[in-house]
Amino acid sequence: MADSNETKKSITQVRIPTRTLRPGNRYSHNVYDEYGNRILDAHTPITQTLINHLLSNDIEALYYDPASATRKKDNEGDVDTGKPVISENTHEEVVDHTRSLFDEIRTNLNISPAIAISKDHVYSTRSMIDSLLGEIDENEDGVFSAMTKLKTLDDFYYVHSTNVSVLGALLGTKLELQQDVRTAMGVGGLFHDIGMTSVSKDILHKLKKTQEEINKINLHPHVGYKLVEKHQYMHELEKRIILLHHEKADGRGFPYGFEMDHYRDQVPKEVRLMSLIDTYVSLVFTMPDSKPMSSQVALRSMLNLVYAPYKKVFRFLPEDFRDFIRGLGFTVNNGKFFLSRGDVVRLNTGEVALVEELSKLSPLNPRVRIVKNSQLQNLKRNISVDMLKDYGSYISNVFERKKSSETE
Ligand SMILES: [Fe+2]
Ligand SMILES: [Fe+2]
Repeated sequence: MADSNETKKSITQVRIPTRTLRPGNRYSHNVYDEYGNRILDAHTPITQTLINHLLSNDIEALYYDPASATRKKDNEGDVDTGKPVISENTHEEVVDHTRSLFDEIRTNLNISPAIAISKDHVYSTRSMIDSLLGEIDENEDGVFSAMTKLKTLDDFYYVHSTNVSVLGALLGTKLELQQDVRTAMGVGGLFHDIGMTSVSKDILHKLKKTQEEINKINLHPHVGYKLVEKHQYMHELEKRIILLHHEKADGRGFPYGFEMDHYRDQVPKEVRLMSLIDTYVSLVFTMPDSKPMSSQVALRSMLNLVYAPYKKVFRFLPEDFRDFIRGLGFTVNNGKFFLSRGDVVRLNTGEVALVEELSKLSPLNPRVRIVKNSQLQNLKRNISVDMLKDYGSYISNVFERKKSSETE
């Protein structure tokens, strides 16, 4: 089934030494031996029997093609594939840690908020993040990818917090921030929604929440901050992440709703980055009942919320968004955030178009004039499309201009 030449050619990219395999490990790709025989289907746990079999047959390594699962032909300007930055095993360990941490804190809260979060909770999390950072360092070319499927609704906040934490630690590393700041981004990411432990699981898991319940949930940054405010063993940045991760540049965030000028001063850059991560994670890894967005669709919709010179309403600052996507190895529109009139673009349909008119509110959804069809033949009559109204199509690539352009 899998020993075609084609398979053999494409499996040389990522090598997994047999000695590093552990029972229970899973990969999001089909895994092959060096001859192209499929050894393991994607998402199937590795067994001890399989490891023994490989060792007794002197099979030193298995392989997978990192591009096979996620790379799409129509996204040529957007490449964010690669090997996962941490192993599925580590990811699951962090989820397990988060689960027991949150459950203990929830129980402690019934006794007294003052003792809800102990020194041990913080220290054990910090050492976990430090070993995670070690793994990230070893695997610096990797890209974080969705590795855990939600099994139960109860797992949602644990997996969500884990993902925010891993991406926070990763971004801190990629941006070469100081060691204590990287760790604080990881720890702060894990604790950022800790205030949710004061909300009953019944409310958290309800699909249709009343306004009163939403208001209660929206108190979580403040409630969480109160739990850690006096704890000297927590880094100041960790506390700020808990308190300020829902503040937004447009003043519509909470708990304070800082307007633009104050937003810049009052919300540290690292917290603003964590807020971008929190938003991204919420779009890409959703509740079991809602449909998750692909990474590229999520990044595009976030880019539409970034400040652009002609926009009045915006949620994130361009410099923060730039650091967020570059740090995490994402690319949107060939790294070109804002389009200009006259840009030549390729649509996801394969058609080539010229940007005619920019939308004031959605930088990535201009009106375009299609000049070539998907076979790249010139159209006899050009067709104008308003991409704000055409939900099915989006710009997948922006062609380089020959002369320097006036963008960004
Ligand atoms: Fe939150
Ligand atoms: Fe969150």
